[in-house]
Amino acid sequence: MLAVPGGPDPKRRRLWLAHAAPVVALAATLAGCGLSSPQTTLDPRSDFAGPSHRIFLQIFWWDAAIFVVVAAILLLAIVRFRERDPAALPRQVRGNARLELAWTIAPAVILTFIAFPTVGAIFQTQAPPAPDALKVRVIGHQWWWEFRYPDLGVSTATDLYLPAGQQVALELSSTDVIHSFWVPALGGKRDTPPGQLNRIVVTPAAPGDYPGQCAEFCGASHANMRHRAVVLSAPEFQAWVARQKAPPAEPADGSPAAQGRQAFTTHACVGCHTIQGVSGGQLGPDLTHFASRRTIAGGMLLNSPENLVRWLKNPPDVKPGSLMPNLNLPDAQVAALVAYLSSLK
Ligand code: CUA
Repeated sequence: MLAVPGGPDPKRRRLWLAHAAPVVALAATLAGCGLSSPQTTLDPRSDFAGPSHRIFLQIFWWDAAIFVVVAAILLLAIVRFRERDPAALPRQVRGNARLELAWTIAPAVILTFIAFPTVGAIFQTQAPPAPDALKVRVIGHQWWWEFRYPDLGVSTATDLYLPAGQQVALELSSTDVIHSFWVPALGGKRDTPPGQLNRIVVTPAAPGDYPGQCAEFCGASHANMRHRAVVLSAPEFQAWVARQKAPPAEPADGSPAAQGRQAFTTHACVGCHTIQGVSGGQLGPDLTHFASRRTIAGGMLLNSPENLVRWLKNPPDVKPGSLMPNLNLPDAQVAALVAYLSSLK
């Protein structure tokens, strides 16, 4: 039988719990500090994430000061007014106008102090984009993110490439249900209600690789709907755009990749995926430069031949609910498709 901490006496058990709970909470907090947390909101890397982080820190320290004052008064009350004579009745108090005024006015003052920087930050982060901002359409799908650059004629999935130091206007929408776009290092979450266009205007501060995660429950594979912002220096970003605008690689006649293209065009793949000059499907990610992506399946797997085999053989087995069906492809066709897709640099 399991031993009950504190023994069978309920009073002792409560006492044991009262002592154990803060220790457990502290241990959990310290454990959280020690883990690596790439999706932290405490390391802002944009003009959108910066102001909210500053407000968070201000409110945190004000709250810490209030906590110290309240805890000190509480401790004082516990010690000074503790029960001395168990038989005596405490002084009976009913109504105290001064106290009631104080605990009405004090929170109002605190909220006013919080409101000033908050309202300022709201205006600062909701300003309309500059005319020369880079426009990116962010489209949520079950369960992957599409990024279209209408002025550049480029389209990607999962990896959102951005130039450092340039203002970007993200126009967020969805083709199915409500998703929520969130790259913690670049700023707050924003929902994508179907039929509505939401916006984030952001200037990434420095090059880096910032992971993100869909932040609104959107169905079976919500937890598998990942993305990342890849922020490059301006010249690197231009080079990336040039590579993305280039036509897809042409497989050599008779090569495994050529067999893969043949398999691609004769299967259902063409109905859902675009490869420039090969197919025009719109339901799934554009695969024109598939091999330049670091991950597949909405960010679930690294883009390697082994993972691609696993994915092509049974997508819903990898990503529950995946809209890409299991086409029951024979091994030879899967190998040819992997050769073709891996050639699309
Ligand atoms: Cu998309 Cu959760």
